[in-house]
Amino acid sequence: MFKTSAAAACAAAALLWSESALAQSDIERGKYLAAIMDCGGCHTPGVFLGKPDFARAFAGSEVGFEIPGLGIFYPPNLTSDKATGLGEWSENEIIAAVRTGARPDGRELAPAMPWRAYSALSDRDAKALAKYLKSLPPIANKVSDPVGPSQKAEAPYLSVKMP
Ligand code: HEC
Repeated sequence: MFKTSAAAACAAAALLWSESALAQSDIERGKYLAAIMDCGGCHTPGVFLGKPDFARAFAGSEVGFEIPGLGIFYPPNLTSDKATGLGEWSENEIIAAVRTGARPDGRELAPAMPWRAYSALSDRDAKALAKYLKSLPPIANKVSDPVGPSQKAEAPYLSVKMP
């Protein structure tokens, strides 16, 4: 009897350990994907001003992208801050935005966010990436709202010609 319950406890502990090890390796994988997919290259303050602020990596950009005819779009804060970042987004909502450009409010993300290229991401990698973003410590930083094509921008922006 003792032997059986000890064995069961060991098995349960091993399972718990392997599950947390798996979650950890997902986050590691997500970190790697975020690096090679250059999320921080657009979503980090200062990058387009020549002074990347790595202490606030992924906290959003003060410089937007102008898509002629569509408007100006600022790469938002991807950290887990609830008010200004992705803190209130579920993993599935992050995955939908990255792979299909669909925001939870139904707006389609402008093509300055390369979601069409990211649509090829596998389920497993998309999940790992979302888990990594959810694991980022919250940094409060509200980027400018998108600006319509006929509105005047208050914040700096780059003009892009998309194919
Ligand atoms: C070339 C620049 C660029 C790169 C690279 C990029 N993004 Fe974006 N991203 C943007 C812009 C610009 C927007 C805002 C688009 C809009 O508002 O329509 C955006 C929006 C988003 C959103 C929606 C957030 C919100 O609050 O609406 C998410 C999530 C996101 N990006 C995640 C990522 C991830 C994850 C990566 C890396 C895998 C990444 N982005 C790489 C430019 C980029």
